[in-house]
Amino acid sequence: MKAIVDPDICIGCGLCADTCPGVYRMEGDKAVTCVDLIPAEQHECARKGAEECPVEAIKIADSA
Ligand code: F3S
Repeated sequence: MKAIVDPDICIGCGLCADTCPGVYRMEGDKAVTCVDLIPAEQHECARKGAEECPVEAIKIADSA
C-alpha cells in the first residue's frame, strides 16, 4: 500500500502528519510521505490520515 499526496491540492493544514506521523510529514507548507511502501501496522493510520484531509489531497493505492 502506498499513499500519494497531491501537492497541487494540499493546503498544508497538517492534519495528516498529526494523525499519522509515521507516514506523513510536513515539508514546508506541503505534506509528503515518509515511506514509500507503507508497512502493514501503519495501514489504518495512513487511511485515517487520508480521510481526515479536508481537501482530499491524499490518494491511497492499495495494489502498489
Ligand atoms: Fe495537506 Fe491534507 Fe495533509 S491539506 S497537510 S494533505 S491533511
